[in-house]
Amino acid sequence: MKKNKTILAALFTTCAVILTACGGGNSGTNSTNNGTTTDTSNSSTGTVSGPIPIGIAFAQTSNVALLGQDGISGVKIAEKYFNDKGGINGTPIKLVLQDTGGDEAGAINAFQTLINKDKVVGIVGPTLSQQAFGANPFAERAKVPVIGASNTAKGIPEIGDYVARVSAPSSIVAPNSVKAALKQNPKIKKVAVFFAQNDAFSKSETEIFQKTVKDSNLELVTVQKFQTTDTDFQAQATNALNLKPDLIITSGLAADGGNLVRQLRELGYKGIIVGGNGMNTSNIFKVCKALCDGVLVAQAYSPEHPSEINKTFRQAFQNQFKSEPPQFSGQAFTAVQVYVEALKALDSKSKINKLPLGQLRTELNKQLLTGKYDTPLGEISFTPIGEVVQKDFYVAQIKMSQDGSTGKFVFVK
Ligand code: ALA
Repeated sequence: MKKNKTILAALFTTCAVILTACGGGNSGTNSTNNGTTTDTSNSSTGTVSGPIPIGIAFAQTSNVALLGQDGISGVKIAEKYFNDKGGINGTPIKLVLQDTGGDEAGAINAFQTLINKDKVVGIVGPTLSQQAFGANPFAERAKVPVIGASNTAKGIPEIGDYVARVSAPSSIVAPNSVKAALKQNPKIKKVAVFFAQNDAFSKSETEIFQKTVKDSNLELVTVQKFQTTDTDFQAQATNALNLKPDLIITSGLAADGGNLVRQLRELGYKGIIVGGNGMNTSNIFKVCKALCDGVLVAQAYSPEHPSEINKTFRQAFQNQFKSEPPQFSGQAFTAVQVYVEALKALDSKSKINKLPLGQLRTELNKQLLTGKYDTPLGEISFTPIGEVVQKDFYVAQIKMSQDGSTGKFVFVK
């Protein structure tokens, strides 16, 4: 057994019953399932008889939608791309979207609906690591594969045998942005770190940032804490700025992170700011506007990656959104690609429309962990526990127009 079995079976059984009863609450509005599976009272029996349903559990509402929207864009491009290429050996895939909202309860509700009502073969999501630690154990218990496409906290693949991710962990991605900051200003000595203490990813990422600061022989002058729900950072920002840092590093999500950057600049901070993975979306531009300019953010995807599939993905994204695809869209596309290629490989061995759903989910989980995938992220594979193995990482810097109305992530060399 690869992973810690930390699941409290009795607790989850109780919760599952409650949540199933609540199913279709605020997360059910996007369900597009039209009965493509043979329904039975059990979530894992019956066979898939039409388009193959893949569940998408991203945040479409709340502040977390600032991140979730990028994921939705990526999976929708993937659905069209792979269906145009013949789907799963001639059978199309069908994405079933459930809104997770911004918290764990919303993610659990979305997962339960996808598993029990929509009867998906696997799930992409949820948006936050914080949500993954709450919802993924439900998929694990139901033996439904989950591929995280934006979860970067330590410990995500370890949640269970059915949990993998294509979003490289902060431990690999985050240090690159500190190195880029030092390259831009080798005189940096004093560093102030901020992080959201109510968010699993932010807590995990700040550990990596703080270790990188120490390993780089920099002086960590203060660690300031906030909540992802905060909008006023005056107290923490003032505390930090009194210590005259040359570099500020922040781990939070999009709305809080954008507001923090704005307030640091309004209080007169002129040095470099490194933003974490929760700020890796152009949706923060409307939060910090012109004051987003210059923020460095590490990237696990580059629109310029030379693979053919990335060129096609990038073109499709540009055609639709008139901008470069962001990291979370590239990762979400990749997660759907992993399911498609694993389903094709499985179908070539034994026809997937003949397999009972429970067996299909289990075989799919085994299959996806063994494959090598040529994706927009580059060539990826998985470790036996479901951690992504990826080669190429980057850093981008936000460049805003003077009036703050438009901006872009410019990749730094
Ligand atoms: N990377 C962020 C997380 O893991 C979005 O929660």
